Amino acid sequence: MKGLILSGGSGSRLYPATRSVNKQLLPIFDKPMIYYPISVLMLAGIRDILMITRPEDESLYRHLLGDGQQFGLTISYIHQPAPNGLAEAFILGESFLVGEPSALILGDNLFYGHGLADKLQDAAKLQDGATIFPYYVKDPSQYGVVEFNADGRVIGIEEKPALPKSHYAVPGLYFFDGQASTLASEITPSARGELEITDLINKYIARGKLHAHKLGRGYAWLDTGTHDNLLNASLFVRTVEERQGLKIGCLEEIALRMGFIDIEQFEKAILFYKNSAYGDYLREVFNLEKLS
Ligand code: TTP
Repeated sequence: MKGLILSGGSGSRLYPATRSVNKQLLPIFDKPMIYYPISVLMLAGIRDILMITRPEDESLYRHLLGDGQQFGLTISYIHQPAPNGLAEAFILGESFLVGEPSALILGDNLFYGHGLADKLQDAAKLQDGATIFPYYVKDPSQYGVVEFNADGRVIGIEEKPALPKSHYAVPGLYFFDGQASTLASEITPSARGELEITDLINKYIARGKLHAHKLGRGYAWLDTGTHDNLLNASLFVRTVEERQGLKIGCLEEIALRMGFIDIEQFEKAILFYKNSAYGDYLREVFNLEKLS
């Protein structure tokens, strides 16, 4: 299973904060936003990741993440010249995917909750069909919204409906089989001029190949597209991290625990973070690992 991260977009709702900095490079409390979706792919066991960025942002992402080797990953980069929609990820990523199954995550989505890694690793076994993770929200009208039949099966997804057919929104995390690029190339732009992920998912529904695993109320799914959401996400991360003394989305820690890097590589990574609280945390993890 390969991973795609869509980290482009215009971030216009966050102007002027995003006039000169791409949204996904802004911090969520103590680390860049992009760390959180990367951590989700890592928890799914995915190590081969394609970062899709605006042309002008690639060098900044490379500066931050390099080729991913320090996290035990292989990160490559491709440009999305304009925000043409989420389904374009599979067209841009075609030669990276070479027909393999993949997980797509949006660079501004944050997921957290007990059992998430198991759920993700289960989803990453997918060979045939697509998987989404419907999530109950108060106001689903800003999202893709799931329509269920009486048996609880998904019979359709509508993008930003004025009259939502349920309270279940589709979060920005999707698993697709090796057909995704081929099916995405058959999609035409919507009225708003985007290749809609909803249209791609609906193709899987039409084939009877969509799996929907609800994320229960014990999970946090946050997106960070507005100033309020951005601040709320930071406060959420700070609250959990301060209470537990454990970090959310610490890539080196996840790499170590997933067996992507060994303790020697982990120790080297600590130096990189100098005198930051993030570096202190890595030192604590290192000392505990050495003792155990
Ligand atoms: P959006 O929040 O829909 O768009 P945006 O990030 O451009 O922000 P705004 O609406 O304020 O202008 O994007 C959701 C995520 O998907 C975000 O992480 C950016 C990413 N994205 C792309 O990388 N390419 C695209 O073509 C689109 C539509 C979004």
